[in-house]
Amino acid sequence: MEHLYEKLENYSTNDYYPYHMPGHKRRMAGALPKQIIDIDITEIDGFDNLHHPEGMIRKLQQKAAALYGAEESFYLINGSTCGILSAISAALPEGGHILMARNCHKSAYHGVYLRNLTVSYLYPSVMEEYDISDAITPAQVEEALNKEPDIDAVLLVSPTYEGRIADVEQIARIVHKRGIPLIVDEAHGAHLGWSEEFGANSCQAGADLVIHSVHKTLPAMTQTALLHVNGDRIDRDRLRRFLHIYQSSSPSYVLMASIDNALHVMEKDGHRLFCFFAERYYQMMHKLSECRHLEVLAPKKGKQDIGKLVISAKKYGLSGQRLYDILLEDYHLQTEMATESICLAMFTVGDGEDAYERMTKALLEIDEKMAAGLIQPDFSARKHPYSVLDARDSIPLSRAWDMPGELVPLKEAVNRYVGEFIHLYPPGIPLLAPGERMTEEKYRQIQDYLEQRLKVQGVKQINDTKMIKVLRK
Ligand SMILES: Cc1ncc(COP(=O)(O)O)c(C=O)c1O
Repeated sequence: MEHLYEKLENYSTNDYYPYHMPGHKRRMAGALPKQIIDIDITEIDGFDNLHHPEGMIRKLQQKAAALYGAEESFYLINGSTCGILSAISAALPEGGHILMARNCHKSAYHGVYLRNLTVSYLYPSVMEEYDISDAITPAQVEEALNKEPDIDAVLLVSPTYEGRIADVEQIARIVHKRGIPLIVDEAHGAHLGWSEEFGANSCQAGADLVIHSVHKTLPAMTQTALLHVNGDRIDRDRLRRFLHIYQSSSPSYVLMASIDNALHVMEKDGHRLFCFFAERYYQMMHKLSECRHLEVLAPKKGKQDIGKLVISAKKYGLSGQRLYDILLEDYHLQTEMATESICLAMFTVGDGEDAYERMTKALLEIDEKMAAGLIQPDFSARKHPYSVLDARDSIPLSRAWDMPGELVPLKEAVNRYVGEFIHLYPPGIPLLAPGERMTEEKYRQIQDYLEQRLKVQGVKQINDTKMIKVLRK
């Protein structure tokens, strides 16, 4: 099969002169590596067109579909974000009613806003040991659909940011009994289905629309993603229309080549790479089981994803942010994110032996220091499982985000409806969405997060005051 990256590389050495975009003309790289611009072209002859694929891009997409067990797949160069927007827009009518997990990424909320949807939330339960949201269960979906018979589509995130995996097969059966589609944001699960170790992906489990960030868990460049579609519950032309709307009209060939490359590497060498990955990961988990104060969430096929190392020092009284800081400052280990209770490190096939050795050594050493009382606890009790918030007292997001607002000091926002998203980034799961009420409890949660220096977005620092946008009375 012809691969895009090879074709681009070959093309870069020929004598065709580019009287076309991009403006660097494959010559002016500035301070960037020349190899990048060498393969950065536009839709010229022989290279097909992502928005109207008839040649090699069509074949590459067919190949991706075959690899993931989908009927049809689309290359995405605007990340899973544009896949989620397109999936929501295609699966529901304008003004429709979506049943959606509350721990969805902000892009799902943006889809709700853009398409003027009514939302009913599925609230994940909290895993007390780590204060993280668990996967949505089939029983929750069944119960919600019984209560709300006018739902047009269901949207779940699986694996979650912390790696919790839902029983998508069972949920798909429940959803399909109502004749409506299931969308799975599997942004964190592009590796699922590739190895015995990981269990099936959501295409294989029967979801109608599945979104993968190739860049998150496979060796591909940032912004690369895939959207897969199965069955006849989704109008494919409508889906294509929304992809045209949400994707750039100048799709990057570098990014498309990166998707092709990642899938090719996986197809050719995936078995060996995934075996190495799983073996090293389990060895690391085994060594970390010696820890007396630190706890790590064990991977379990179909339940907890292998690549997400969720570390808690809760028993010792150390916050996730402090643990994150220690790993960064003392060991130069840059982890993915911290919440009040956990620090999250990501592992993929891209990691070598050193990644496991360094993390294992650092965590064992930190645990030793804790045992010797050399690390000061910074906290006694966790208060706020970060993603679970009751949003029933609210103005619909699709209206609220456009309503006139005003900036007020955080404390004065209590009892008011907020006018902006407030979330920790990462993971970008809203603590509050526009139109939701700032209760006293939510105020304290945000205040605590700010004091812990967690990365709260949606709160503005003006002079010495933390301000927040609320809707005008
Ligand atoms: C669960 C989830 N879905 C979707 C996205 C958006 O993915 P992308 O960055 O590929 O647009 C993210 C990003 O972090 C995410 O965590």
